[in-house]
Amino acid sequence: MRVSDLPTLPARLTRPVYFRGPAPRVAAPLAALDAPMDKLKITGGVPLRGELAMSGAKNAALPALAVALLTADELVIDNVPQLADIATMSRLLRGMGVAVERHGARLTVSAAQPTATEAPYELVKTMRASVLVLGPLLARFAQARVSLPGGCAIGARPVDQHIKGLRAMGAEIEIEHGYIVARAPRLRGAHIATDMVTVTGTENLMMAAALADGTTVIENAAREPEVGDLALLLNAMGARIQGAGTDRIVIEGVERLHGATHRVLPDRIETGTFLVAAAATGQFGGADVTLRDVAPGTLDAVLDKLREAGCEVANNGDWIRLRMDRRPRAVSVCTAPYPDFPTDMQAQFMALDCVADGAGQIVETIFENRFMHVLELQRLGADIAIEGHTAQVTGVPRLSGAKVMATDLRASAGLVIAALAAEGETVVDRIYHLDRGYDRMEQRLAALGARIERQK
Ligand code: UD1
Repeated sequence: MRVSDLPTLPARLTRPVYFRGPAPRVAAPLAALDAPMDKLKITGGVPLRGELAMSGAKNAALPALAVALLTADELVIDNVPQLADIATMSRLLRGMGVAVERHGARLTVSAAQPTATEAPYELVKTMRASVLVLGPLLARFAQARVSLPGGCAIGARPVDQHIKGLRAMGAEIEIEHGYIVARAPRLRGAHIATDMVTVTGTENLMMAAALADGTTVIENAAREPEVGDLALLLNAMGARIQGAGTDRIVIEGVERLHGATHRVLPDRIETGTFLVAAAATGQFGGADVTLRDVAPGTLDAVLDKLREAGCEVANNGDWIRLRMDRRPRAVSVCTAPYPDFPTDMQAQFMALDCVADGAGQIVETIFENRFMHVLELQRLGADIAIEGHTAQVTGVPRLSGAKVMATDLRASAGLVIAALAAEGETVVDRIYHLDRGYDRMEQRLAALGARIERQK
């Protein structure tokens, strides 16, 4: 049977109301969305010093918002960062008739009476993580229509594993007019082994399985801390999930989930980015930065590499202090799923190697096209040779400021770090990429002494 042959669903779920409905009640769109051509002007050469609090994790907050679709009760999500990606997910949910309200870092989300089950192309193309609504929609409303994300700057990034897993749970899925059209009267538990480790794939399947009939086992599951955080939230809502954080997650489906309050874990990538920024500026007279509200236990691979680069790193409970008073030593990194070195820190470490003593190899194994920042780093005078998935970076004593362009979120962070370590002035264009994942990065770097300003 094709999806189109299935019986018509209740009118309240089929009306095309995606951008009508009540007036938005979340904070006004971020400046980044209104003025996409903002630039950052950075004058390098200042060692970063001071103390800074880190935000909640973007990659945990996004699925936490999608989870709201699984219950008619209210969810309260705390420690949600102020980011363009969070604004996009809020818009996506509001388009489905979900109420989303922000009070500081706290979001209240209620999907009591959703009016649509579609994620339109216009939003999914700007943020791939929109696909996270697929599992919850299907599990609670028996249907979903979610745009395929298409390509993105860092690679093809298909969602075949999400689809494969949901099909194993009994969903009928067709690709029609660029959309994943899925139906399942009630998902049923299944044994799923994903072909590769996928973070949002694991999350989508875990959310869907929470309301399925029977037990689901996900083998080769992503072990990222954000997956564990999502399992905590789901269990607080009444789900029965075990093994999150390992590569085998067992989910016993329940009839319904209820409301809950959850605090999103700290952002390990934001934390790592600020630490590398400090490390890259140590050569200018001693960097000394303490980051608070962090989760050091989620950063082992990154902290090890920073120590190898010559940084003094101390941590305890929820803070990390980094001190660095010389040119970094070059380090080699190879990206891999957690707990190994994160692909989301690759560009930042490449920037560090650009000014290091010696040569380092950066191997990217997760995304096929994640070296877009190399050409821009070369504009600053970096010595980088690429062969396939490997970049050979030979440090130079000084980079020199230039105009460069951000190409994706983490590439932008790498460029900012290189600019902080460069001589003279650098202008980083197209920083709307940066605003997707970093809250007011320029203000917070400025608080650590950096000479950095946003230009409209
Ligand atoms: C998540 C993170 C992103 C991070 C990435 C890898 C979120 C919102 N984003 O992205 O910041 O860079 O993990 O740590 O959490 N793949 C397939 N088929 C699939 C799914 C994935 O081939 O169905 C491939 C991808 O193309 C990629 C690899 O698997 O090469 C890993 O991707 P995945 O873990 O799914 O990345 P995201 O979840 O999109």
